[in-house]
Amino acid sequence: MPRRVYFTTPIYYVNAEPHIGHLYTTVVDDTLKRFHRLLGDDVYFLTGTDEHGEKIAQAAEREGISAQALTDRVSGLYSSAWRTIGIDFDDFIRTTEPRHKRFVQEILAQVHAAGDIYFDEYTGSYCVGCERYLTQTELVDGKCPDHKTEPKQVKEANYFFRMGKYRERLIAHLEANPDWIRPERYRNEVLAFLRAPLEDLCISRPKTRLTWGIDLPFDDRFVTYVWFDALLNYVSALASPTGRGEDLRERYWPVCNHVIAKDILKTHAVYWPTMLMAAGLPLPARIDVHGYWLAGDSKMSKSLGNVVRPLAFDEQFGIENLRYFFFREMKFGSDASFTYELFIERYNADLANGLGNLMSRVATILAKKGGVIPARPAEGEAERALATLAAEVVRDYPGAFEARQFHAAVDGVRRLLAAADGYINEQQPWRLAKEPASAAELDRVLWVGLEVVRLAALLLSPIMPRKCREILDTLGERRALDGSVPFAELSAWGGLAAGFKLGEVPRLFPRIDDKRLAEVGVEAAPVPAPAATEAKPAKAKPAAAEPSAPAEPITIDDFAKIELRVGQILGAETVEGAKKLLKLAVEIGEAKPRQVFAGIRAAYPDPQVLVGKRVILVANLKPREMKWGRSEGMILAGSGEGRLAIATFEGELVPGDRVS
Ligand code: MSP
Repeated sequence: MPRRVYFTTPIYYVNAEPHIGHLYTTVVDDTLKRFHRLLGDDVYFLTGTDEHGEKIAQAAEREGISAQALTDRVSGLYSSAWRTIGIDFDDFIRTTEPRHKRFVQEILAQVHAAGDIYFDEYTGSYCVGCERYLTQTELVDGKCPDHKTEPKQVKEANYFFRMGKYRERLIAHLEANPDWIRPERYRNEVLAFLRAPLEDLCISRPKTRLTWGIDLPFDDRFVTYVWFDALLNYVSALASPTGRGEDLRERYWPVCNHVIAKDILKTHAVYWPTMLMAAGLPLPARIDVHGYWLAGDSKMSKSLGNVVRPLAFDEQFGIENLRYFFFREMKFGSDASFTYELFIERYNADLANGLGNLMSRVATILAKKGGVIPARPAEGEAERALATLAAEVVRDYPGAFEARQFHAAVDGVRRLLAAADGYINEQQPWRLAKEPASAAELDRVLWVGLEVVRLAALLLSPIMPRKCREILDTLGERRALDGSVPFAELSAWGGLAAGFKLGEVPRLFPRIDDKRLAEVGVEAAPVPAPAATEAKPAKAKPAAAEPSAPAEPITIDDFAKIELRVGQILGAETVEGAKKLLKLAVEIGEAKPRQVFAGIRAAYPDPQVLVGKRVILVANLKPREMKWGRSEGMILAGSGEGRLAIATFEGELVPGDRVS
């Protein structure tokens, strides 16, 4: 029976660019959406950005720009990064949008009218990093345990939400619904927290202190506390979905499944349900809580310089391979460690030597005898054993997904692939291929090998949608993965397209050599840069190359040969071993951002200030292979004696627009 599900990610703060922690939650939702679609379910997926509050106001102030400009820029970085790497969200909400502000004000007015919001004076310890007051018991040596900073002592008159009033009802809900928060230890954590009396929640900030927020509808001297505003996105986006005239609340709100990390458990499992109770709305169906990705064994943080950027990773190693790593490596609920070395190890073992190798071994032998997939053969004991294992893996896969035991689901596929590998080693098709009398036996072995590849690609398709689609297409498995063909039919042993002639088999998982790390500049030992690749800002040269003075005037046709495009810098980083270069990821509306090495480091010692800037890219410049990678264009900069600045735009241009 088709079901209905609504998945949400947290809406991400726009004071920092996306990193692979944000990517993980977003990929979990994307994968769940694809999994449910494969089963024929009705599924909706929301993500977005959280744009109000002190944290954002302070970040904008530090950069010397307006909060609106900061939020527009960083929100754009999130949405374009997700689009570039193929995240299939149905809506992207920004809390500065009118549809959201209107909804927040409606709810505030309603809860206020019902008597659950009152005015009072309050003194407390406020942590800007957490954007909430911390209780005395939460402080460690007087500091916030997460941000290691002393909270501000704030004393002011504010509006309060009667959160404490809903404590018993919330406990009863948790007790009656043991699966509401998963895994169980997070449910226990919330229950333990609720054992103590629950304080009311301060839900306003006086405009004398903060203006960047949504006005309280009943007192415009105050703006709304950012969490009271942000949490409502999950419903406001359904009330007025982008590009659709209908209200989706009735259809999706009752089946809402939040996916969050452990850092925001309290706001989602205590603030949010009590807010909904006060507003007379049903609670979400489920809260799934995952752990943290650590860089090795330390926290990922911009200041520690160990964050991994999704778009950069995509360029270096391919985002789908990272998606696989995410699910193979993290036990949902626990922390996991990301290092490039571990990623490469897993990739080589499971994808290059596992799935990729099985496919190419079998396909190469088949290609030598015409490349046509044989008919389903008569099966002997060895084949029946594999078919039984495949049926078990297929049977357990949906359950593992439902329980968010993604690593167990992936383990099943790995077991199947390992068994198929053992089968091929035993049957030795390369030997059978040399004996004309063994033709039927050879057909059987090749058929079995390809059927396992087909099933593995089908099961992994929610995790690696593009690569798996390619594998399935190569095998002639053209059936849609959108529920139009029942999953039971797709996943039944024997579905291989007999008679289909294999074309060229793509090398989807080439082995990654350890040297690759140095090549892409990850933890590479410093190497001296060839002088020719570095522009010299001190001598006032442009960004990536030295223009030669034209000998004679050029015509407009000469000029027209240069294709100039509006580009947006999505990522900017220093290059190990090249003192003057920055590596930029520049979006110009193509499938992938361009990688550009520009000699502008002296003018931009903190490359992060470039992120979001719109620049002029010479788009048809011949790409140049450099020691650190390929440079795919050049950005324009102005310069004078000891001065250098990139050319940027005012006004509403978007990446890919022409410049002339
Ligand atoms: N704006 C709030 C959420 C409001 S939701 C109504 C917020 N934003 S955030 O930008 O800090 O994002 C936090 C979330 O990002 C985590 O809950 C998690 O989903 C994801 N992650 C950020 N860093 C992460 C890791 N290192 N590891 C795993 N997930 C991480 O909190």
